[in-house]
Amino acid sequence: MKLVANLVCVFTCLTAVACDRVYVHPFNLFSFNKSTCEELENLVQEGKKTFFPVSIESQTTPAYEDDLNNNVKLETMSLSISGRQKLSYLKDLVYVLGARFYSELRESQRGQNLLLSPNSMYGSLVSFYLGASNQTATDLQGLLGFVTPSGDPDCTSRVDGHKVLSTLRTIESLLVKNRDEELLSSKMLYLFSAPGVPLSKSFVHDLVPSADALYVRAIDFTNPGEATKHINAFVEAKSGGRSKHLLTDLDPATNLLFAVDVHLAGNVKKALRLKEPHEFWVDSNTKVLVPGMSVTGTFKYKTDTSKTFAVIEAPISKNAVLVLMQPIDGNDLDKIEAELPLQSSAWLQDLSPRHIKLTLPELTIEGSSDLQELLTDMKLPALLGKEANLSKISDANLTVGKVITKAFLKLSSDGADGADQPEDPATQKEDLVLLEVMLNKPFLLAVFEEKSKAMLFLGRVTNPLNSV
Ligand SMILES: *[C@@H]1O[C@H](CO)[C@@H](O)[C@H](O)[C@H]1NC(C)=O
Ligand SMILES: *[C@@H]1O[C@H](CO)[C@@H](O)[C@H](O)[C@H]1NC(C)=O
Ligand SMILES: *[C@@H]1O[C@H](CO)[C@@H](O)[C@H](O)[C@H]1NC(C)=O
Ligand SMILES: *[C@@H]1O[C@H](CO)[C@@H](O)[C@H](O)[C@H]1NC(C)=O
Repeated sequence: MKLVANLVCVFTCLTAVACDRVYVHPFNLFSFNKSTCEELENLVQEGKKTFFPVSIESQTTPAYEDDLNNNVKLETMSLSISGRQKLSYLKDLVYVLGARFYSELRESQRGQNLLLSPNSMYGSLVSFYLGASNQTATDLQGLLGFVTPSGDPDCTSRVDGHKVLSTLRTIESLLVKNRDEELLSSKMLYLFSAPGVPLSKSFVHDLVPSADALYVRAIDFTNPGEATKHINAFVEAKSGGRSKHLLTDLDPATNLLFAVDVHLAGNVKKALRLKEPHEFWVDSNTKVLVPGMSVTGTFKYKTDTSKTFAVIEAPISKNAVLVLMQPIDGNDLDKIEAELPLQSSAWLQDLSPRHIKLTLPELTIEGSSDLQELLTDMKLPALLGKEANLSKISDANLTVGKVITKAFLKLSSDGADGADQPEDPATQKEDLVLLEVMLNKPFLLAVFEEKSKAMLFLGRVTNPLNSV
């Protein structure tokens, strides 16, 4: 059976290549072409324009930030065929790297809640790729998963970071497109540099499309305690109080710090708040009581072939789906985590509709990771370390302090208290067996953008009480 399936696949893939004369390897949708390569050479010769960011203490918004933030409009573009191809290729690269980071974090933060945003981690590395030269650029491109199909080492084997950033942004724009109810999403980007460090204008300008707002400020890092306090207060103020405690510590040698902060808050569609607290087993001996919610309806569901876990998919808005993965039959989370799907599409594969009563805790979870530290743990310290060539960010010798990606996810019920939920009469057929899915012990979750099937968040909930 499997062999037949493989043969069918080989056959269709071959015909796809043979019939479609304009087939373009997805890599080439992101790489430089010959004519842009020539333009680039001229640009390099023009020299670099730089500027000095204003102090973090300045009360007035610097003109460059105004200009930057006026440019930021989440355009909801219609997708061309090559646009779709780009999305579909990039979403897999984003997931592969996100899953690598997840595996690293699950070890170092054993037993704790985890949340990461693969999209913004990937985007942060693309930003540094835009600022990198020479071997550092080559290595970052490799980490991002872009391997040239031709193998030629010339300029056309290099990926255009702008195209990658704008495709990542398309995914985020799809999320907020035509939303039909309250879905709060925001993405803020911060760049802090030491006084006297000039920044490249074009580098900063290139970051504009990647967030809802971008702040670029100078701060003295030599007193790390003070600097931490100032930065945290700045970020808290700019985020309207939503984002607290960005930093816990700093290296006084730092002269550049990068941070991206993403928030998503939504409701599990038609879910009602439970009147009684929801029992959640943190481990086999420890029970906590948490606010819960419940929803009955038709959901996509599966159990894997070896019956170690169950997957259920529930909408949180028109454009976002929540995927919950729970161990079953006495298996524990560790086992599922160790065998995370290698491709993002596997999360959504083979699901079929079932009539289900889903009960889960209301969730507010947050996660913060330093990409520099993660890369060091992954034995790739040079990429953002002292040796990195970031000459397109600044002429000064840069010491990148941290590259923080922070993620926040809040999932609530639609609000009403559900004592006796009125059943949808259409689903009250006798032949429908109601399956009860109760998330009452540690589980994994992921949030996907519906159309592109790109993963926006990946996390684990070990204790809903230890949220924020
Ligand atoms: C090369 O790329 C640029 C920018 O992406 C595009 O405007 C141009 O049409 C391309 N040229 C060719 C020959 O494909
Ligand atoms: C960084 O790369 C640029 C461009 O290739 C090069 O001119 C410069 O010498 C490099 N700097 C270091 C410290 O290697
Ligand atoms: C890096 O930059 C140096 C100095 O400009 C240059 O000699 C070298 O060929 C570059 N290496 C790569 C891989 O581009
Ligand atoms: C950067 O560091 C190198 C080696 O430590 C030094 O030779 C160079 O002058 C420094 N450049 C600047 C602009 O400080």
